[in-house]
Amino acid sequence: MKEVVERSACGKVILCGEHAVVYGRPAIALPLPSLRARAYVEPSESPLHIVAPDVGRVIALETAPADEPLARIVRLTLEHLGQATPRATITIRSDIPIGANLGSGAAVSIAIARALAAFLGRSLSAEEVSALAFEVEKLYHGSPSGVDNTVIAYERPVWFVRGEPPTLLNAEAVRALPLVIADTGVYTPTRIPVGAVRAGWERDRARYEAVFDAIAEHVHRARAALVAQDWETLGAAMNANHALLQVLGVSSPELDTLCEAARAAGALGAKMSGGGRGGNMIALAPSREATSALAEALRRAGAKRVFYA
Ligand code: MEV
Repeated sequence: MKEVVERSACGKVILCGEHAVVYGRPAIALPLPSLRARAYVEPSESPLHIVAPDVGRVIALETAPADEPLARIVRLTLEHLGQATPRATITIRSDIPIGANLGSGAAVSIAIARALAAFLGRSLSAEEVSALAFEVEKLYHGSPSGVDNTVIAYERPVWFVRGEPPTLLNAEAVRALPLVIADTGVYTPTRIPVGAVRAGWERDRARYEAVFDAIAEHVHRARAALVAQDWETLGAAMNANHALLQVLGVSSPELDTLCEAARAAGALGAKMSGGGRGGNMIALAPSREATSALAEALRRAGAKRVFYA
């Protein structure tokens, strides 16, 4: 009898460049290794089932619709490996809040792909799991850039440009980053703000392209600052990026309140992160020692949960 096989994948935050990244500009994304989705695969007498106790779901692969994300990653993985469907149960557990723009969807896909491959005696590279998860990301919103599946698959800070192989950034420099992440508790599916930006861009391409170019400049500035561990410059780039995301209409009163509270509490920079209209924001403290006071200020300002990078 085979044993239970367990594999996991991390959460993520976008440091800067979200939305503009859908339109070919660069973004920087960071893994959150302490927030994880886990998939467990064990042999079963019955045909393959996927069980997600956290959300009270049981899915029979045989009858699941084609656009069911959990079934889709299982089918894609089996197809990619050239394997028949095993008799097995896949159980998902995740500590990544769903819908908070922390990469829950891509992390669950990648954990399942890894665990299923391992159950079948195979392994998949970061590039392979990233490509599989990208197909599932398309179910969540029509035109994903691929940044989420990439940073989660590599579990490294990445410089990401759509359609290009990612550049892996120096993990040491990023480890020192005094970043606090706060969840607004307001969950909006990514396709809503992505769709709103798309509609605006269709109406006035020149204006939107100019905003994307301005965001890209701050992303370049942020990369140089990250490598130099120049937190003041990085914080200024984050603030400027947030202002441009407000112009795109993807921030929200809750996100703006948390960003203002973070700055008032001494953060060098603060911005929404990911799709927006809710979800999470990130704030850069002046030092590691200052992160817990910043986290406390964010809780007082209404953050439902606070994490550290
Ligand atoms: C979501 O984490 C980031 C967005 O730019 C969407 C995408 O890149 O696919 C909002």
